[in-house]
Amino acid sequence: MKYRAPRGTRDILPEECRKWHFLEEKIREVSWKYGYGEIRVPIFDSTEVFARSVGEDTDIVSKEMYTFTDRGERSLTLRPEGTASVVRAYLENNLNAGPGPVKLYYYGPMFRYDRPQAGRYRQFYQYGVECFGSGHPAADAEVIKLTLDLLGMLGLEDVTLQINSVGCSECRPVYRRKLKEVLEHNREKLCRDCTGRLESSPMRIMDCKEEHCREATVNAPVMVDHLCPECSAHYAEVKEILNRLGIVGEENPRLVRGLDYYTRTAFEFVSTELGAQDSIGGGGRYDNLVEHMGGPTVPAVGVALGIERLLLSMDKTFLQQKKAPAVFVAVSSDDQLPTGFQAADIARKAGCTVEVELMGRSLKAQMKYAGKKGFDYVLITGQEEETRGIVTLRDMNTGQQEELPVSRLESDLQSVVKQTRNRKEEG
Ligand code: HAM
Repeated sequence: MKYRAPRGTRDILPEECRKWHFLEEKIREVSWKYGYGEIRVPIFDSTEVFARSVGEDTDIVSKEMYTFTDRGERSLTLRPEGTASVVRAYLENNLNAGPGPVKLYYYGPMFRYDRPQAGRYRQFYQYGVECFGSGHPAADAEVIKLTLDLLGMLGLEDVTLQINSVGCSECRPVYRRKLKEVLEHNREKLCRDCTGRLESSPMRIMDCKEEHCREATVNAPVMVDHLCPECSAHYAEVKEILNRLGIVGEENPRLVRGLDYYTRTAFEFVSTELGAQDSIGGGGRYDNLVEHMGGPTVPAVGVALGIERLLLSMDKTFLQQKKAPAVFVAVSSDDQLPTGFQAADIARKAGCTVEVELMGRSLKAQMKYAGKKGFDYVLITGQEEETRGIVTLRDMNTGQQEELPVSRLESDLQSVVKQTRNRKEEG
């Protein structure tokens, strides 16, 4: 084969797209239910937008961006994440002019030049929500609740919420100095990456998965023990609200996210099924970012979920989802096509997914095709059926056939839809 999709990218074929559509539908539904409006930002933005918001010293900006110079000598970058562009768009379009909160969601491809492996791609999709204008802990709790609602709608239960507070511009620098001092003593134990991080981002060492780094940080101080009174009260209130909503999180004092803009609450949703790339999504509060990007002081909080990782964990549950029956409409001859199309319309109205014979094959060949493609039912329309005002419904699982009067077809098929759903749910 001469050409292949670039490393870390892949084609999504029709069968898999059905799963994507299902997920996309749930994303729109949950966003709408929580009052989020969709925003579509460009797939590339000025490099500066990402460098300034995500942070120059982060892995994303220093190693993973797809940056290029266009013919007008501008430095542009394929978006590695959504928050930076959404903040840029929020300011550019004066979305802060009216009363808050302003609630925006986005869905689309992101690009990071990382080593590809299962669940990690160079082009991947994210669904994200950003809530601007509220510094209240209720906003943090609601973003977490929305995510859990979506995971519930997708049938994903083996997901743990990990939560932490990373402080603010008052308390974090003090803590960082302390942490750096402690880690300096263990410098020789740290991995190469973390030795570099000692200067630029010592907090990230706490999150390193390397055994030696873990050992070096066992007794290191953690941020939650060094929060200022305001951050401490904020964190306590987020946890209190979650608690009262019946949401159980796991406090992880080592959780530091890989992006620089977070303040106070930081959280991640971790799947117990995914192996190495186990973070299904993550987010947190970023109270300084809007100002840092040249706007007024606007507190904000958000989350983003990795679509491919959601789909990987949905593999099991998706099969159990209520599924509409797939119906094939077989026609005995081309004369029957109009009747076939009519029957197909009725079946679609009743909630089935329907395909009509388009190949001019014999009835026998059509039945063979329907069996091979895994249709649940075949609706047969023939000359004799037409004269009698009926269609024949064949259950492809049991081989049983019944005659349905055309006048009652829609309601009869509605019962079939219900039965099939129950059957698929049980099986
Ligand atoms: P993030 O943790 O960098 O946060 O990414 C969020 C999610 O995107 C990850 O948990 C993961 O599921 C998915 N993801 C990241 N990189 C890859 C990859 N290479 N392949 C597949 N999936 C990936 C953010 O991007 C922040 N903007 C989240 C946020 C929104 N914070 C506040 N608002």
